[in-house]
Amino acid sequence: MRPNDEMKLGVMLLQGGGHETAWRDPSVPANGGVDINHFAHQAALAEGAAFHFLFRADTPSVVDEDLGTIARVSGNDGGIEAITLLSALSSRTENIGLVATATTTYHHPYHLARMFASLDHLSRGRAAWNIVTSGYKFEAANFGENELPDHDMRYARAREFVEVVKGLWDTWEDDAFIRDRKSGIFADTAKLHLLNHRGDHFSVRGPLNIARPPQGYPVLVQAGASDAGIAFAAEFGEVIFTAAPSLEHGKRYYSALKEKVRALGREDDQLLIMPGIVPIVGRTEQEAAEKLEKLHSYTHIDVLTGVADRWLGFVTDLHSINLDSLVPEALPQTNLFQSRQKLLLELAARHKFTWRQLIRFIYDSKGHLMVVGTPDKIADTMVEWFDQRAADGFNVLPAILPNGLKEFVELVVPELRQRGKFRSRYSGQTLRENLGLKRPLNPFTQAPVSSLP
Ligand SMILES: Cc1cc2nc3c(=O)[nH]c(=O)nc-3n(C[C@H](O)[C@H](O)[C@H](O)COP(=O)(O)O)c2cc1C
Repeated sequence: MRPNDEMKLGVMLLQGGGHETAWRDPSVPANGGVDINHFAHQAALAEGAAFHFLFRADTPSVVDEDLGTIARVSGNDGGIEAITLLSALSSRTENIGLVATATTTYHHPYHLARMFASLDHLSRGRAAWNIVTSGYKFEAANFGENELPDHDMRYARAREFVEVVKGLWDTWEDDAFIRDRKSGIFADTAKLHLLNHRGDHFSVRGPLNIARPPQGYPVLVQAGASDAGIAFAAEFGEVIFTAAPSLEHGKRYYSALKEKVRALGREDDQLLIMPGIVPIVGRTEQEAAEKLEKLHSYTHIDVLTGVADRWLGFVTDLHSINLDSLVPEALPQTNLFQSRQKLLLELAARHKFTWRQLIRFIYDSKGHLMVVGTPDKIADTMVEWFDQRAADGFNVLPAILPNGLKEFVELVVPELRQRGKFRSRYSGQTLRENLGLKRPLNPFTQAPVSSLP
């Protein structure tokens, strides 16, 4: 039995759903990406079921190249930016965690340290940062560059970035702001610590101009799956998102990452691995299959090739390929999401996929576990992954919203509870408390400075 023996659940907030043409369904508000009520509805459903967190992905660019795809998918209207959206939702929710993506490649650490500290205060300790290094082709051109920096270079910058952000969160001790009206002393400057960081990528004096976050640090989330990404996850990550299409793949990733965490001297229950799951829920197998069929009816071939292009890293011209030919074992390496390209090619080789099969698979699941079936079958699969140590919980990626989440909450969550794997109420106030993650101590607490140089 794990010390932390409760399945964790998060849900990805999306406009129409993971299926990027689900917006065509009459049940989806077509302008959902910019409609706060659409997101508040998803938040209420998840919080009502005691989910651990809402997750909002982000990228500062459009994601596709092909105009035929851009014309048809909702994904290039990224919708409301992640930290902005979760800040708004912090006042419409009470208990659920708020995980926002922000890239270390195109931000500055001072800004992000301040924004996530603000979100943690706004939400009274429910903020988390999904640290990404940028993998979408068109981000670079929005920041004065032709190409994304090299993959390893992005991770090198990310390491220093996170060290700086953590350092900034520690610049004020927890009890530095005494706000004593009688003496007139607002801040105890003995509890103020400059950062004075000088490194390869950043020079940051500090201190931060906001009190230490309620959680010490907002929870650090990460999704690296390349060698550099896994090393980063093991060192800094507390919640790890991953795409794992099969139990074997999930178990392999889980045991390798937990081993790395232990080797670094960290407690392995302080890093939670949460693969994505795309549930297509039906009261019968047939109803679930029909739901998927209906989603397929909304897609156009340009969408399938365009979305596949994105996840394979724009390395091949899918429009000129015979879709009934077998997918080759290798493609040119991408500088974008390297590990996802590798995962998809391995899968295609194992199943001897044709291009048509692969692009459909990518559209449906993007490489995540997809389960089409009854609540019983979906719950059994989740419990199997949890019990066999392929997952500490799941990041639920509904194909269509809000109904995909509603059905999951109404039909699958009770099955998980019946199996004793999921709770029915929140156990703590902060996200850390709810996830069983320790609050980081301030390492500067024992070494005060007496004045600012
Ligand atoms: C569930 C999940 C969510 C992700 N969310 C984002 C995101 O919001 N923005 C982003 O740029 N990358 C996102 N990524 C991509 C990862 O940050 C990472 O770049 C990717 O897994 C490839 O890792 P690698 O660069 O180590 O190969 C996500 C990955 C997963 C599995």
